[in-house]
Amino acid sequence: METLIVYMTHHGTTEKVVGKLTELLGKTTTTVVNLQQNQVPDLSRFSTILIGGSIHAGEIQPPVKKFCEEYEYELLKKKLGLFLCYMDKEHRQKEFDQAFPENLRKHAHAHGLLGGEFLFEKMNFIERFIVRLITKEKKSRSAIDYPAIAKFAASFVI
Ligand SMILES: Cc1cc2nc3c(=O)[nH]c(=O)nc-3n(C[C@H](O)[C@H](O)[C@H](O)COP(=O)(O)O)c2cc1C
Repeated sequence: METLIVYMTHHGTTEKVVGKLTELLGKTTTTVVNLQQNQVPDLSRFSTILIGGSIHAGEIQPPVKKFCEEYEYELLKKKLGLFLCYMDKEHRQKEFDQAFPENLRKHAHAHGLLGGEFLFEKMNFIERFIVRLITKEKKSRSAIDYPAIAKFAASFVI
C-alpha cells in the first residue's frame, strides 16, 4: 500500500509531524511532498493520501487549500487523512473545519489535530510581535501531540 503525505509548513513544525508520521507509516512505502518545494506526483499511484498544514492567523496555507480543491475528485476515491498543526486549542476544531472542504472532511478516514509549537527564533519581527501580543507567550514552546500523531497514524496501518 503506497501512501502520499502532502503538506506545508512555515517554521518546520508540520514537517516534524510529517517526519513522525512517515516513521510510523513506513519510510519505504511513504512519499512526502512539500507543496512549496515539490511537484504534485501522479495521485493514481497512491491508495492513501494524508494532507496537512498549520494555522497562521486563522488560516491554513493557501496552497494546501488549493490542492484540496484542485484534486477533490481524485481525493474522494482515496483513503484520506486530514491533519492540522495549531496552538489555539480552544479554536482548533473551528480552524480545522475552515481549513478543509466539507466533502473531504466527511470522506476522510481520520482527522488529526496534532498540536504545534511556538518557535520564536524562527519567527520574523512581525510574527513575533503578533504572537506576543495575542497570546502573551514569550518563550518558544512545543505542544506537539505525539499520542494524537500515533493514533492518527495507527488508523492507516492495516
Ligand atoms: C504569526 C503566527 C500566527 C499564528 N496564528 C495562529 C492561529 O490563528 N491559530 C492557531 O491555532 N495557531 C496559530 N499559530 C500557531 C501555529 O499554528 C503553530 O506555530 C504551528 O506549530 C506552526 O507550524 P509550522 O511551523 O508547520 O507552520 C500562529 C503562529 C504564528 C507564528
